[in-house]
Amino acid sequence: MEKAIVTGASSGIGAAIAAALLGRGMEVYGIGRDFRKQEELMKNPLFHAVVCDLRKHSDVERTICDIRKSAGPVDVLVNSAGAGYFGPHEQISPSKIHDMVSVNIEAPMIIAGLLLRDMKKNGGFIINISSVTAKKSNTYGCAYGATKAALTSFGESLFDEARKYGVKVLNIHPDMTESAFYRNADFSSCEEEDLRLLPEEIAQCVMAALDMRAGAVVTDITVKPQRHGIRRK
Ligand SMILES: NC(=O)c1ccc[n+]([C@@H]2O[C@H](COP(=O)([O-])OP(=O)(O)OC[C@H]3O[C@@H](n4cnc5c(N)ncnc54)[C@H](OP(=O)(O)O)[C@@H]3O)[C@@H](O)[C@H]2O)c1
Repeated sequence: MEKAIVTGASSGIGAAIAAALLGRGMEVYGIGRDFRKQEELMKNPLFHAVVCDLRKHSDVERTICDIRKSAGPVDVLVNSAGAGYFGPHEQISPSKIHDMVSVNIEAPMIIAGLLLRDMKKNGGFIINISSVTAKKSNTYGCAYGATKAALTSFGESLFDEARKYGVKVLNIHPDMTESAFYRNADFSSCEEEDLRLLPEEIAQCVMAALDMRAGAVVTDITVKPQRHGIRRK
C-alpha cells in the first residue's frame, strides 16, 4: 500500500489533500497540532493523526523518524502546513517571523531531507503547497511571501537535483482559497464562487499530478479564481 505524509492535514488544503489520498487507498500520516475539527478523517482506519509542532525542528526530526520506522518508506510527501501574518513589516514581531520561517520553509526542507534517501531508491513525489505570493511582490506580506518564494525555489532545485533518481517535485501556487488561513489577518477570501478557490480544488491538482505517467512530471501549477478579490473584515 502506498504511504503519504501530509503536513497541515488538520485543516483546509492539507485536510482536503489527505481525504483525496485516502480516497485513492493510500495510508496517510497527517501532521498537525489539533485534529478535533477533522472527525471524518479521524474515522478512516488508513489515517494516522500525528501531533507535532513544526516550529520545533527536533520534534520534526523525531516525528518523521518515528513515522519512517513504523510505516517504512514514504511514497508521497505533501508540505501543506503554513503560517501567515500580514501587515506593515515593522508590525510583524520576531516570533511571528520565526513561526512563518520554521513552518513554511524550514520544516519542508527538514522533512524532505529525511525522506529523500528512500525516495531516491524507490521513487517518490514531494508536493509543496506554495502560493501565488511566491512569484510577486507582496506589500503587507513581505515576510510571508519571502517564505513562499523560498519554498518554490527549494522545490525547483530539489527536482533538478533528484530527478535522475525518479523523484518528482511539484510546487502548487494557489491564490485565495477558502480556509481558516486568514484568521490573523484583517482580510479573508470572498464568499462568491468566482472570487475564491476551494481546498478540494487544490486536492484535485494533486490528484492530476499523481495520475501522470511515470516518465512525465508536472512541476508547477498555479490556480486562481476566475476573478480577483479579497474581503475586508
Ligand atoms: N488559504 C489560502 O488562501 C492560501 C493561498 C495560497 C497558499 N496557501 C498555503 O496553503 C497551505 C495550507 O493553508 P490552508 O489554507 O489550508 O490554511 P489552514 O486551514 O490555516 O491550515 C494550515 C495548516 O497548517 C498547520 N500548521 C500551522 N502551524 C503549524 C505548526 N506550528 N505545527 C504544525 N502544524 C501547523 C495547521 O495545523 P493546526 O491547525 O492543527 O495547528 C493547519 O493544519 C499553507 O502553506 C498556506 O500558506 C493558502
